Amino acid sequence: MTKKFIADRMNSIPPSGTINMFELALMFEKKGEKVIHLEVGEPEFDTPSYIKKAALESLEKGFTHYTSSRGIYELRAAICEDLSERGCKYTPDEILVTPGAKHAILCAILATLNPGDEVLIPTPAWPTYHVIVKMAEAKPVNIPTQQLYEINFDILEKSVTDKTRMIIINSPNNPTGGVIDKNVLERIAEIASKHDLLILSDEIYDRIVYDGFKQVSFASLKDMKERTILINGFSKTYAMTGWRLGYAAAEKYLIDNFLRIQQNSTTCPTSFVQTAALKALKTKTDDLNKMIRIYEQRRKLIVDLLNEVKNVSCELPKGAFYVFPSYNLPIKSMVLAEKILKETKVCITPGSVFYGENHLRLSYAVADEDIIEALNRLKNFFNSL
Ligand SMILES: Cc1ncc(COP(=O)(O)O)c(C=O)c1O
Repeated sequence: MTKKFIADRMNSIPPSGTINMFELALMFEKKGEKVIHLEVGEPEFDTPSYIKKAALESLEKGFTHYTSSRGIYELRAAICEDLSERGCKYTPDEILVTPGAKHAILCAILATLNPGDEVLIPTPAWPTYHVIVKMAEAKPVNIPTQQLYEINFDILEKSVTDKTRMIIINSPNNPTGGVIDKNVLERIAEIASKHDLLILSDEIYDRIVYDGFKQVSFASLKDMKERTILINGFSKTYAMTGWRLGYAAAEKYLIDNFLRIQQNSTTCPTSFVQTAALKALKTKTDDLNKMIRIYEQRRKLIVDLLNEVKNVSCELPKGAFYVFPSYNLPIKSMVLAEKILKETKVCITPGSVFYGENHLRLSYAVADEDIIEALNRLKNFFNSL
């Protein structure tokens, strides 16, 4: 393939590993084969109807033009109210509403990192952080964690150099489903204060937690607001992945700088999607709890079935809707995932995509029947190796 007109920076931006698997699966589907998709990172539930209705009403009223680049005031105020329920004190001028949490992360990183800065990323991690850090010509530094995202402080602190500027944490974590306890967050806070670091805390799965666990926001910790960039969004909590709406919350001077990137890239988030998100925040229903109860049952189902598979071992995660089992075979996860797809028509994501070799990531945001059928095929596949 020619690289004639391609910029050097593209060398550090690999194609998405998850999308690679998805495209391979599409090839089989085009041939009429039924693939079970466990690589997906989105709820299979439909967006609640009251949210869709709010968007339609907004369209009919003609709310179809540019809005404030920060996002409409009422939505930012509602986000602040929502955050205050989690002990985080923000004002509407400390919020930037963006088309998806991903864009909030892009704005935040481009506005805060200089070329050569180092960013500590506990791994396994969602690979987008690495790519965006590299786009800013900064350097991601992996901090390997134990199973289920257990952070080792010695490794974390020893990895701090005079170039370190930020730590990125993501709890509940994609891909492991691990969550960080409050006492661990406090140790991270100590390290951040001691070395004067920013914390980018991606809390997009904060409501999807089990066994009565309550995720503590990093920004709610004592004196941490000033060094926190809190990222969240509507994709996972309200099953709104395709609507594209997220936000960053941070001190006003940081938000004012993130805003300059948004103004010059997307201008503003989509007008009527913001009205729908406002409705989502203002409506108190049991939808989310119902969704979580269903995920909770599927989590147990998939973990139990995975632990029956030869050479595979899986811990019970506390959050998100992924499991990240390890396997005990001398084969790279990319090769294994492709072989599984070819032979069983079950699509899963290799752990290497998340800097977690010898693991596989499976999403259980799919129907029970699909989990049962997929695991049956995987059991036969691993038995045959
Ligand atoms: C950890 C994490 N953060 C952010 C996102 C992106 O969210 P959004 O759809 O709001 O861009 C994802 C999506 O998979 C994710 O897993």
